[in-house]
Amino acid sequence: MKLAVVGVTGVVGETILRVLDERSIAIDELGAFASRDRDESLQFRGQAVPIRAATPQALAAGGYDVVFFASSDDASAELAQHCIDSGARVIDNSSIFRMLPSAPLVVPEVNPQAIEAHHMLFPVANCTAIVLVVGIAPIFRAVGLRSVRVATYQAVSGAGRAGLEALANEELVALAGREDPVPTPFVAPIFRNVVPQVGSIDEHGDSGEELKVVAETRKILDAPSLHVAATTVRVPVRNAHSEAVFLELTRGASLEELSGALENAPGIIFHREGIVTPREVEGQDMVHVARLRAEEHSNRHFQLWIVGDQLRKGAATNGVQILELLIERGYIGTRERAGV
Ligand SMILES: NC(=O)c1ccc[n+]([C@@H]2O[C@H](COP(=O)([O-])OP(=O)(O)OC[C@H]3O[C@@H](n4cnc5c(N)ncnc54)[C@H](OP(=O)(O)O)[C@@H]3O)[C@@H](O)[C@H]2O)c1
Repeated sequence: MKLAVVGVTGVVGETILRVLDERSIAIDELGAFASRDRDESLQFRGQAVPIRAATPQALAAGGYDVVFFASSDDASAELAQHCIDSGARVIDNSSIFRMLPSAPLVVPEVNPQAIEAHHMLFPVANCTAIVLVVGIAPIFRAVGLRSVRVATYQAVSGAGRAGLEALANEELVALAGREDPVPTPFVAPIFRNVVPQVGSIDEHGDSGEELKVVAETRKILDAPSLHVAATTVRVPVRNAHSEAVFLELTRGASLEELSGALENAPGIIFHREGIVTPREVEGQDMVHVARLRAEEHSNRHFQLWIVGDQLRKGAATNGVQILELLIERGYIGTRERAGV
């Protein structure tokens, strides 16, 4: 299989390469692209791979079977169709194609059936939405949901390398007792702070991230009339998003019934006792669910705490899992296990 990654120098792109390697995806030729040529190559499975500027010509000439995009909305808008026209399947981490009716929004633990043989474009859903749906889908399937409300605690790496650098630099400056301005993708200082705005705010007061979580959760669960409400917040955590979730069920259920559904669900580690924090789940593909409990005097209202590494399950791993489904179904290339 000939595979390319656009955005290899970014935090999602480098995670895609790591996950492809860990999962032993058979790759005959790797194309590595960024916004501009680099003098230094990257190392993949012992080979030096040059990093080149992503252009329509370079991508089409590569004859790729699959192209991952982990770059920007603009780059995906400009380049994805060229890749598809040249016969590649595109797995895209940008937000621009997610709500197209013709594009399946696949979270493999939740809706693998959405993939059909003719699909060429696979948007990867918003990272916060992926972590949320993996955690609530077992309850949605087992007892039905009337509403989902979520407040998020999102890591700075959700804003890419610039987010990680802003937190690190703000910390350095503050601990040195200085007050120099630090370049930042955030609307307010993030070190020793909490910023209740992720993305721009629209005329109704909702942020871009909140609108994505609402629309994409409904699309992935195939529940267009499900009531979903979100407040998304950036916190000074490096990796992994946390979510406080408030559910209303369509029928009464016991804590035991919901616990059972979560315990047997794919992609989830369910903690019956205790807590889980983003530091503990960094680098993992599993979504962790903890603190499931009923609200007072209710068998329809429950709360839970969901944590997942958004660079892995919320982006890279979810994209590679889509590729694995395409391979398993014979839509694309071949796959070899390590050592085979
Ligand atoms: N970070 C997350 O948690 C997360 C989660 C889900 C989805 N996403 C999405 O994934 C994508 C990548 O995010 P990131 O966090 O990895 O960002 P990042 O760390 O800032 O990396 C961006 C990457 O895109 C490349 N790039 C930028 N403009 C480009 C262009 N015009 N043509 C080709 N390459 C270009 C950059 O190359 P240079 O180094 O040459 O500038 C870099 O490799 C974005 O669409 C983001 O919304 C991110």
